[in-house]
Order: sequence, then structure tokens, then C-alpha cells
Amino acid sequence: MKALIPSGGKGTRLKPLTNTIAKQLLPVANKPILFYILDQIKDAGITDIGIVISPETGDFIKEAVGDGSRWGVQISYIIQSEPLGLAHVVKTAQDFLGNEPFLMFLGDNLIQGGIKSFVREFKHHVPDALILLKEVPEPRLFGVAELDTSGKVSHMVEKPKEPKSNLALVGVYLFTPQIHQAIAQIKPSWRGELEITDAIQKLLDMGREIRSHILTGWWLDTGKKDDILEANRAVLDEFLKEDMQGEVDSKSRIAGKVEISKGTKIENSIIRGPVSIAENCQITNSRIGSFTSVGAGSIIENSSMGFSIILENCRISHIERLEDSLIGRGTEIKRRQEGFKIIKLFLGDDARVEL
Ligand code: DAU
Repeated sequence: MKALIPSGGKGTRLKPLTNTIAKQLLPVANKPILFYILDQIKDAGITDIGIVISPETGDFIKEAVGDGSRWGVQISYIIQSEPLGLAHVVKTAQDFLGNEPFLMFLGDNLIQGGIKSFVREFKHHVPDALILLKEVPEPRLFGVAELDTSGKVSHMVEKPKEPKSNLALVGVYLFTPQIHQAIAQIKPSWRGELEITDAIQKLLDMGREIRSHILTGWWLDTGKKDDILEANRAVLDEFLKEDMQGEVDSKSRIAGKVEISKGTKIENSIIRGPVSIAENCQITNSRIGSFTSVGAGSIIENSSMGFSIILENCRISHIERLEDSLIGRGTEIKRRQEGFKIIKLFLGDDARVEL
């Protein structure tokens, strides 16, 4: 069995970060989202993996993942010239997939507990598709499935204006090669994409067997800033291990689960976990509150923050309270020490600032 990870797209909802990084590489708890997916696929025993990349951000992904030897897997890269939909992704990867069953795991999805049991269930029952569903408060943002009275999937719609159920399609699917025939029969949707949801509906129309599974653990689609912060919260909460490799002076206080990596120095500061601080950071006279990740090489001085992700090599100075923030690499935020209440900004395209 092979695995396919769609990791292309334009990352429009995460600009300007996605001008210089693929959204699938944004870190939660200081590890790229895509790496959690590779861990889970490997854990399910699949080692032949195709990653679908875009011409714009594909090189970032190639550089970060390489040939997959770090995971003990083999990676093939497949370029999709335009993000024309998830069924188009499968079409583009048809040579790689051949005539084998496969797992498709969207490169920006995170699910609790991995996928081992679903792969086992698929291999045991061999339906034409096995899909995962999750009850969500806002189903119109996703593909939505309706079930009949016996609990079987009866209908699926992509991002319906008036959803008939609260069951969203999670971005993890298992297919037999029958899906290629279904894809050959669908047309682009109103948003101009060849939707995988429509292809699975087509399988149903063809009388094929679709099994579904309702997830009870958390599932996160990290397409927007707040989703990434929530993913950071969930992952820090669940997976973070206490690990103290940096230096903490006697005037600092560390409480709760905290990871402080090599070369990082904490001086006269309070760190209240769960918090992950990567290598070679300098934290001085500051307070880092729960559910925050700080990327390697960052300097934080005379500041206070919580529920945020700071990427590598940032400098945050004299900022009283930074909350719910996602800060790109090499960003500097400082409060001027003079009394004037002026704001000076030097921001990239599509930046968002709340003051
Ligand atoms: O996250 C679950 C949802 O994912 C499902 O509920 C929807 O049914 C499904 O259509 C999909 O919706 P999104 O709008 O969230 O998909 P998005 O455009 O964010 O793409 C998901 C991943 O696939 C992302 O890593 C980018 C990649 N992708 C997407 C498209 C459309 C590609 O590589 N190529 C593409 O053409």
C-alpha cells in the first residue's frame, strides 16, 4: 500500500507566512505539521510515500523532508502545476499510485492517535473507500457527509451552504484503485476544483462500498492562523515531554511541562508550561505563558506572552502582552523606550497587525 500527501496549494489564508514557507511546514510545538503526518504514516507501516508539491513552495518541502531516510521511508515528489483540487491531485499522481490501494493524508491535517487502526480496518474489509468523519460546529467549512438510519454514508457534499449534518470529512482517506474511475467521471465544482468529495459520491453512485468512521479524538485542519494556534495547544498539551537541556538561572521559575532545548538561556524569567523553547534562544526578564512555542535562535527580553507561536530568529523586546499570535521567521517587535505614542511599522505584504 502507498501513501499520498497533498502538500501543494497556495496557502492563501496564511499569507504572508506562506510567501516564504509552505503551510505544511509551519511548526506546532517546534515541529513541522508535515513531520507529524510522516511519523503517523510510518507508524501505520507504509513506507512508499508520494508528496504532491506546488511549483511555488515545493522546494521548501523537498529541502525539509529530503529522501525520507530520516523516517526510514522512501519519498517521491510529484509536481502539481496548479491547485485544481484534491481529485486532481490523485489524477496527477496516477503514475506513482499505479494499480494499488492507497492512503491519502492531507498535508495540513493533524489527528490524535494516528491512523494505524484505520489502515488495519481498510486492509481487513477492503471497501472501495474508507473515510473518517468528525462532528464539528461549523460543517459548511468542510466536506460534509450524511448517514442513513443504519449509519452508512448516504450522501456527501463539499462545503455546502446549508449542511444537512454536522459530520465533516477529515482529510484522511483510504482508497482502492476504483477511485480513478470515479475521478474520470466528475466535473469541476463551483469553485473550479475537482473535488475528492464528489469522487467519493461518484463511487457511491456506482454502487461501491464506502465505510466510514467517526473520530472521537481531536482533529485539526491547520488552514488558518487560529487553527494553527489550536493545533499548537493540542500538541503541546498531549505530546510535550519535560526536557531541560538549556540553562536556567536561579532567579527564574519554571512551572508545568516545559521543554528547553540545548544552547537556550533563561534569565530572570517565568515560564509556565506547556511551553516549548527551541535551541539557542535567549529569554531575559520575561514571562512565557502556557501553550507557547518559541523557535530556535529567538531573543525575548522584557516581554510577556501566551498562546502564541514564534518562529525562528525573532526578537521581541519590551512587549507587555503578546497573545494569540503567529510570528514569522526573523521578525523583530519592539516597543520604543521614548514617551511618544507613535507606531513604526515595516511589514511584509499581506501582514496583519492588531493594536
Ligand atoms: O481538512 C479537511 C477538508 O480538506 C475536507 O473536509 C474537505 O472535504 C476537503 O476538500 C479539504 O478542504 P480544504 O479546503 O481544507 O482543502 P485545502 O484546499 O486546504 O487543501 C488541503 C491540502 O491539500 C493542503 O495541504 C493543500 C493540498 N492541496 C489542495 C488542493 C486543492 C494540493 O496539494 N493541491 C490542490 O489542488
